[in-house]
Amino acid sequence: MTDQHLIHMDNLSQPDILELIDTAQKLRQDPSKVPNLFPRGCGLMFFENSTRTQHSFYLAAARLKMIPLVANLERSSLSKGESVADMLDTWSALGIDVAVIRHQENTFCQQLAQQLKSPIRLINAGNGNISHPTQALLDCLSIHDNKTELDQLKIVLMGDIAHSRVAHSFIQAMALLGNTKLHWVGPAIWQSDDPRINCSQDIDQALSDADVIMCLRIQHERMQNTPFNDNHYLQEWGLTAQRLQRAKADAIVLHPGPINRGIEIASEVADGKQSRIRQQVENGLWMRMALLIKYCSA
Ligand code: NCD
Repeated sequence: MTDQHLIHMDNLSQPDILELIDTAQKLRQDPSKVPNLFPRGCGLMFFENSTRTQHSFYLAAARLKMIPLVANLERSSLSKGESVADMLDTWSALGIDVAVIRHQENTFCQQLAQQLKSPIRLINAGNGNISHPTQALLDCLSIHDNKTELDQLKIVLMGDIAHSRVAHSFIQAMALLGNTKLHWVGPAIWQSDDPRINCSQDIDQALSDADVIMCLRIQHERMQNTPFNDNHYLQEWGLTAQRLQRAKADAIVLHPGPINRGIEIASEVADGKQSRIRQQVENGLWMRMALLIKYCSA
């Protein structure tokens, strides 16, 4: 039985995740299998900037022949004092089935879910620094495309884990898939106390024999002061071609984007043969189609 909303990774079980990966892979393999969901509607409400997430949800809805509606927040009735919950109930009355929401507060979708009076479904497209389940799902799909036995892989997160909602949801997703010990390397100031993370300040040791490396952007917008100089960060903490050689020869490099070239990742690595960053973006489309199908038909 599917939870009504997708707010955190724990709204999904391991079979749910595997089914979403399977659906996304089948849609990608044979686009003639894409269902026609007209005249269902998908509303997009983004209180924070977005390129990949917002555009892939829009295009996923369009491929499913859903009606995509992008909220122009400054010109909506929110500016007249309407609450977000009342606006979503209005959307529901107009035929919107799923609302995709990004907001800077950690518990925004959770609180919203309690206020809704209509059957509209929420999909969290990034809340504060704790939750971004749809990104975690497309990252799992990208790993599944390249590797077998996900629970056995050495996965290393690099960089600003402290402010990364991507990392938090990814750690939960991998735990649901049976990989309960991930690795992290970065400046001690961002060290995690999550018992599922093996933390280190030694980059060469952390990257040794890695199967998957996920780089994280420095989330300047979520910090008062950034203790690092962007010009030195790559040499001190970033993923360079030389460091990548410590990992397995067939290791893959992920990054949720947007990337800051020459800061958390060297350009030659981002564009190199081990990079799967472009594949992650493409997978965003297929995974979000799988999600819209699931949440529209449940
Ligand atoms: C991420 C986000 O918004 O949390 N981007 C994304 O959705 N692909 C990561 C980031 O902003 O660094």
